[in-house]
Amino acid sequence: MIQRVLESIDARQAQAVEDLKALLRIPSISTRPEHAADVRRCAQWLAEQLAGLGLTASIEETGGHPLVLARNQHQPARPTVLVYGHYDVQPPEPLEQWTSPPFEPTVRDGAIYARGAADDKGQVWAHVEAIRAWQQAGGLPLNLIMLIEGEEEIGSRNLERFLRERADQLKANFCVISDTSQFARDVPAITYGLRGLVYLELTVTGASHDLHSGVYGGAVPNPANVLVGLLGSLHDADGRVTIPGFYDDVVPLTSLERQQWARLPFSEVRFARELGVRGLPGEAGYTTLERRWARPTCDINGLSSGYQGAGAKTIIPARASAKVSMRLVPNQNPLRIQKAFESAMRQRCPTSVKLEITQHGLAAPVVIPIASPAMKKAAAAIRTGFGVDPVFMREGGSIPVVGQIKSILGLDSLLVGFGLPDDRVHAPNEKFDLNALLRGARTIAALFHELAG
Ligand code: BES
Ligand code: MN
Ligand code: MN
Repeated sequence: MIQRVLESIDARQAQAVEDLKALLRIPSISTRPEHAADVRRCAQWLAEQLAGLGLTASIEETGGHPLVLARNQHQPARPTVLVYGHYDVQPPEPLEQWTSPPFEPTVRDGAIYARGAADDKGQVWAHVEAIRAWQQAGGLPLNLIMLIEGEEEIGSRNLERFLRERADQLKANFCVISDTSQFARDVPAITYGLRGLVYLELTVTGASHDLHSGVYGGAVPNPANVLVGLLGSLHDADGRVTIPGFYDDVVPLTSLERQQWARLPFSEVRFARELGVRGLPGEAGYTTLERRWARPTCDINGLSSGYQGAGAKTIIPARASAKVSMRLVPNQNPLRIQKAFESAMRQRCPTSVKLEITQHGLAAPVVIPIASPAMKKAAAAIRTGFGVDPVFMREGGSIPVVGQIKSILGLDSLLVGFGLPDDRVHAPNEKFDLNALLRGARTIAALFHELAG
């Protein structure tokens, strides 16, 4: 049976790409209010596609963007798998850097280019193709619940409540998520850890309006000077974050994990060259993989103040603002870290300006035990899909639902993702390899078989 399913995935490759293009044409940018109707249209389109495969599919309201929920006819004796994905995407800017427009999917050199191609529409589509193949072969071999949300890129703010309210309908034995990457081309991976996130915005306000920097400079508070001072105080000379208590709950790396990561096929020199950076600064005493996967960070993500146009304009800006992300690792608590950050900033901020701090998203860090029967099944499925064994890796990115599913449904996720490190997720010219789509669909089809058995 599994052989027939795999063959029908192979045979439908060209049509699968055309269908994925239709999904990628919908600009479902969750953070932009003016795209709310596109986001909803995307959910509706997906629900129709899933209904077309014989699933019961519905649009569910969350208070924010809707999510898509679909299931097959459940049989009590069978195990249940919860599949999670997200159909929302990041904003495409800067537009001028795209070779082909972000919402006009284009195939070049064996990859499909569009916003959301790898993150996460292409990966969701690998699941859809796997489901289609099983349905055509007579039906899925297990109970399926598919949840595709529209707010992942804005922190899955409303999902937590939905999971709590619908916990009985979402009970499952396994959770599968394809929203991560392979370790490298032809080196598929199971991801067993994700960093968490606290995303904050700081706004410093001085005078009620911009002031002539000659007439007033030196005698009034300058919010831009104050803000860069605060931001400049966040790290010490060893690259460590200076917020009191920041490292208190950090679980140190084990020497076993360090040894395993050191054996992965990773070159710091090549990594730096591919990114176009001249060096790899970071927390002293850790390798690049350790810094990315197991150490917490504090980074400016956006910065604005004063005159931004061409040439000179001599002003003391009335306000300055910055967006700051902290990536967290087990067992740091996002809310506790947010509080520690706020109180450090308030303590360091002069009283001559106003400091406001708002939060744009939280996610818990996770590490998933790898010695489970489910992990073995996932590894076997990757062998079927890719022809080689997976490596076990952690990731620096965050997926809020993974922590939510653990705390609310008590379930560990299987993070089986098919992106590549050079997919340029969140950046111009995002792509997803057609080969990753095919092998991904094959892997998921095989995983359904493994989890059923
Ligand atoms: N799929 C990514 C996370 C990711 C990226 C995992 C690369 C593995 C490799 C996800 O869509 C994402 O971007 N998450 C956000 C979460 C945030 C908005 C709460 C992130 O990490 O910035
Ligand atoms: Mn994603
Ligand atoms: Mn993303």
